[in-house]
Amino acid sequence: MYGHVLFLLASYYIVGSVAQRNVTIDDTDKAIVYTNSDWSASTDSTLDYNGTLHLTNDDAALATFTFTGTAIYFVSPLWSLAISTQLQLDSQPPVSLNLTDPDPTNSTTVSFAVIWGSGPLSNTNHTVRLSKTPGIEWAVVDALMWVLCNSLSSWFRSWIL
Ligand SMILES: *[C@@H]1O[C@H](CO)[C@@H](O)[C@H](O)[C@H]1NC(C)=O
Ligand SMILES: *[C@@H]1O[C@H](CO)[C@@H](O)[C@H](O)[C@H]1NC(C)=O
Ligand SMILES: *[C@@H]1O[C@H](CO)[C@@H](O)[C@H](O)[C@H]1NC(C)=O
Ligand SMILES: *[C@@H]1O[C@H](CO)[C@@H](O)[C@H](O)[C@H]1NC(C)=O
Ligand SMILES: *[C@@H]1O[C@H](CO)[C@@H](O)[C@H](O)[C@H]1NC(C)=O
Repeated sequence: MYGHVLFLLASYYIVGSVAQRNVTIDDTDKAIVYTNSDWSASTDSTLDYNGTLHLTNDDAALATFTFTGTAIYFVSPLWSLAISTQLQLDSQPPVSLNLTDPDPTNSTTVSFAVIWGSGPLSNTNHTVRLSKTPGIEWAVVDALMWVLCNSLSSWFRSWIL
């Protein structure tokens, strides 16, 4: 009986420890839905995640991504130009992500990196909306990274606790 409980506890910690992982999706991924206007695709920079980028200068342009997970990150390079993407997570107030390099040398100056993170979220469906920051000419989408919570672990946790 004790052996059984110890086995379950051990399994719980093992399963729990590998339960979360970061998944990065490229701007070309079908899971990101581009609507309302022209988004141009660019494939010319090694500083972009997977070498690709979507960009727009249209106020109506919208990119939407829905996921079930416990965090989301916005990934992008930085430029010497005025570029800013507005990000809205669920019904939270939108945030403007300034993608201008404070110390530019080339037109695209800094390789892709995590620019913004949501902090911990409940493991439910969330929607991210990306658009142009009002008053700034260009907005871009390079990649999104989100934290996938293993459903086996969720099931295991609800069953054992
Ligand atoms: C995901 O990546 C972020 C940013 O690099 C990091 O802070 C976080 O610990 C990672 N989470 C997991 C579960 O790997
Ligand atoms: C990388 O971009 C190409 C298009 O240039 C796309 O076909 C491919 O699926 C992308 N790879 C990943 C891992 O998203
Ligand atoms: C964005 O960042 C750049 C570089 O630090 C700065 O010069 C610019 O004023 C910022 N733009 C806004 C709208 O905050
Ligand atoms: C500017 O970009 C070129 C080509 O991508 C690269 O070879 C060069 O090192 C960059 N210059 C600086 C100062 O980063
Ligand atoms: C969450 O999103 C997925 C994929 O869009 C969908 O299949 C599922 O029904 C959604 N679940 C809830 C609880 O809204």
